[in-house]
Amino acid sequence: MMNVEKIRKDFKMLENTMQGHDLIYFDNAATSLKPKSVVDAVVNYYEHLGVNCHRGDYDLSFQVDSAYENARKGVAEFIGAEEKEIVFTSGTSASLNQIAYGYGKFLNQGDVILSCEAEHASSVLPWMKVAEEKGCGIQYVPLDDEGRITLENFKKVLNDQVKVIALAHVTNVLGYEIPVKEICALAHEKGAVCVIDMAQSAPHMKVNVKDLDCDFAAFSSHKMIGPTGVGVLYGKYDLLQKMEPFMLGGGSNARFDMCGNILLKDAPYKYETGTPPIEGVLGFHAAIQYLSEIGMENIHAYEKELHDYAIEKLSKLDNLILYNPHADTGIITFNVKDVFAQDAASYFNTQGIALRAGQHCAKLLIDKLKTSATLRASLYFYNTKEEIDTFVEACKNATIENCLNVFF
Ligand SMILES: Cc1ncc(COP(=O)(O)O)c(C=O)c1O
Repeated sequence: MMNVEKIRKDFKMLENTMQGHDLIYFDNAATSLKPKSVVDAVVNYYEHLGVNCHRGDYDLSFQVDSAYENARKGVAEFIGAEEKEIVFTSGTSASLNQIAYGYGKFLNQGDVILSCEAEHASSVLPWMKVAEEKGCGIQYVPLDDEGRITLENFKKVLNDQVKVIALAHVTNVLGYEIPVKEICALAHEKGAVCVIDMAQSAPHMKVNVKDLDCDFAAFSSHKMIGPTGVGVLYGKYDLLQKMEPFMLGGGSNARFDMCGNILLKDAPYKYETGTPPIEGVLGFHAAIQYLSEIGMENIHAYEKELHDYAIEKLSKLDNLILYNPHADTGIITFNVKDVFAQDAASYFNTQGIALRAGQHCAKLLIDKLKTSATLRASLYFYNTKEEIDTFVEACKNATIENCLNVFF
């Protein structure tokens, strides 16, 4: 069982106030707050380790190397991968771009990449670039009325031309989980690879890449209580070995000569050129240890409980439009009737509630939602039912007058 009261004491940011109210942080899909153990791990690096990794032969350097590789081991265990399949990047966007750059080279004219309208820009744009360069097509898995991907719709667009499937495990606006395992199995029958954007799943639920059998996965430390500037690219080892990195430089090559012969190291090191964010990787390891101690199943169940609690109350308010009442995670996307999302977000700010307004980097979705912008409240395991009660009260009072009064 989770002891949320105890957990909250680890997150100093939760002591903050905003506009004279206790901060209610509901923008967790954008980034998460950090517990003391993560901050301590970062500070410890600067105060007690301080040197580069993969570089020196002295004690401190060896200690940093061990801590860095231990973090890789921790991440591998966290998602059921092998250590050599974990590449540290700067975040989900960097991982997804690397995959498109590397695997895109194996595509040919007429090949098809499957995406969907609910994808984040970082999932679809790199493939648009590949499609333009290689003469491939991009097709979109039709969403059902709720905005979900169903296996039935997926099967309708899967054919022998499809070589890549690039989809989010959990979409960042509607919070729906896709049937990854079944999609991967069907894709593999056709010889296609599956690139799964786990930016919104890895922080919130147990994922096991071997069980799902995805070919690539990507996620960010900062969305899972770790530092910014660190992410993960998971790839099946033969694919990582086969692909080329998009950056070259120190640390990733074994040797090179004046004739331009470059021998790269084996994966994952060939993808990790230059000095990495060492303190971030060590902080990320602390984050994963923290999450694992609570248990990802517990986190997922608690967030779902919070979500259902909120939806039960919000659905009774007739001044709101709810876009995803049946979301599988803690993402609540809504609008206040007749109020532009950004104006409403400013009103919630005056109540001490941090929400995100806009298109949330999923610009293809606006036609489906029939609105130019939405508000997104995204929950995490340190949020509480009391915070939801305050939020629901603020929603009740979110009249046009109150929302616009913020500006006068
Ligand atoms: C589904 C999804 N994919 C990719 C990203 C990009 O992550 P990052 O900004 O950490 O690279 C996000 C961030 O919001 C996301 O929600």
